[in-house]
Parts: sequence; C-alpha cells; structure tokens
Amino acid sequence: MLLPGIFDPSPNFRGSHDVDSFEFNKIAGWALAAAVTLLGVSIGTTMAFRPIKPEKPGYVVEGVEADASATAGPVVAEKPIAFYLASADVAKGEVVFKKCGACHNNEKGGAAGIGPNLYGIVGNVHDHAPGFAYSDALMAMKGKPWTFEELNKWLTSPKAYAAGTKMAFAGISKPEERANVLAYLNSKSDSPLPLPAVPAEAAAPAAAPAAAPAAAAPAPAK
Ligand code: HEC
Repeated sequence: MLLPGIFDPSPNFRGSHDVDSFEFNKIAGWALAAAVTLLGVSIGTTMAFRPIKPEKPGYVVEGVEADASATAGPVVAEKPIAFYLASADVAKGEVVFKKCGACHNNEKGGAAGIGPNLYGIVGNVHDHAPGFAYSDALMAMKGKPWTFEELNKWLTSPKAYAAGTKMAFAGISKPEERANVLAYLNSKSDSPLPLPAVPAEAAAPAAAPAAAPAAAAPAPAK
C-alpha cells in the first residue's frame, strides 16, 4: 500500500481491506463522473445563455442621462410652463379642450356641467364658481389664484394636486399640450392675462443660474 494511512484501514480491519478499497474507488469514480458532468453542463449553459447586451438600456435614470440628441421625451426635465406658453397655439388648445368639454362649458355665462364653467378661469381663483359643489379637497384651496403655474400643476395630475378632487381626469402628460390648452383657456376671458416671462435659465439652459427671472414674473414652480 502506497498510502497506508488513507487506503489501508487500521490493522483491526485488515480482513476487509480489499472490499473497502474497491468501495472507495467506486465512490471516487462516481464523484469524478459527477464533477465532469457538472462542468459540462456549466459550460453548455453558459454558451446557450450567454447574455446579449442590448444596444440601448431598457431603462433610463431620470436626470442622469443628459443625451443632447433627445430633445423630447420623459428623460428631459420639464421646463417651467412659461417656456411652453411662449410658443403655445390657441387653435391646438381648442382641440385639447375637447378632453375637458365633456364636463366643462367655457362660454361666458355658460352653465356648469359635471365641472364648473371655465370662462375666465386663468387668473381667477380656486373654487371661483359660487353654487358649484366643489370637493373638500378643492375647497381647502378656496380663493388661491389660478395662475398659469397652478393650472399647469393641476392639469398635470388633478389627483396629485388635490387628493380627493371630484375632477375625474387623469391629467395631460405633455407640457406642450398643457400650454396649448392654457393659452386657449386664457383667450376665453374678458381680460386675458399676459403670458408669464420665460425664466432665463429655461430659455437658455447654458446660462448662469444667477440670471434671475424677470422681476414681474411669478417665481417658477419647482
Ligand atoms: C370627467 C369630468 C371632467 C373633465 C374631463 C375635466 N374636468 Fe375639470 N373639473 C371637473 C370637476 C368635477 C371639477 C371640480 C373639482 C372638485 O371640486 O374637486 C373640476 C374643476 C376644474 C377646475 C377648477 C375650477 C375652479 O373653480 O377652481 C379647473 C381649472 C378645471 N377643472 C379645468 C379642466 C380642464 C382644463 C380640463 C381638460 C384638460 C378638465 N378640467 C377636464 C370635472 C372635469
């Protein structure tokens, strides 16, 4: 025996020496076979399921990727509504208003529908229509001015703006569309508001942040 300590059982068991040695070899053989099989399976699956790297990642991390070529889309942070209002289109806004028309009349003296009449709403106050049964959520803001900025937030997501509102409307995700409908609503008024000045940093993203918006303009909504 070359390795008496391992292959050779203690002298007490010398009688069964051959059997033990055979058993050991059998077990070692199976272990080796198993190891080879595992290795083979492992190599095989790695080849079969080699990860294919997508050209574009399936997700984008907001604010991290500043791709200059992507001028539109959810990656680009939204600018203040004044920026979109500067190029808003009243005629397009009238088309957007069809989404609101099911619930809102916006003609002067028009009756309330499911929602209050919206004639002259821009620059008016929250809960402007006396006699309309507003929700508690909106009543909590009674008298607060409906500026372009506030209306913009409201139309982005009424629910987020006033949790518990009765206005069953999901909101308008595109800022351009919101600007168009706001420009249109502003035109439906005895005294349309002047468009808010575009904050300097929104007009020219490269400009120094110290360039403050025009003094007359309301602070941009953050
Ligand atoms: C499904 C019906 C419905 C639709 C669609 C809808 N609204 Fe409303 N709107 C309401 C109701 C109801 C209220 C009152 C909300 C409350 O009391 O919580 C309301 C309230 C408002 C107010 C607040 C008025 C005030 O006096 O303070 C504004 C502004 C408004 N809606 C604008 C819009 C615009 C713009 C659209 C389309 C983009 C629109 N709504 C779509 C039902 C609707």
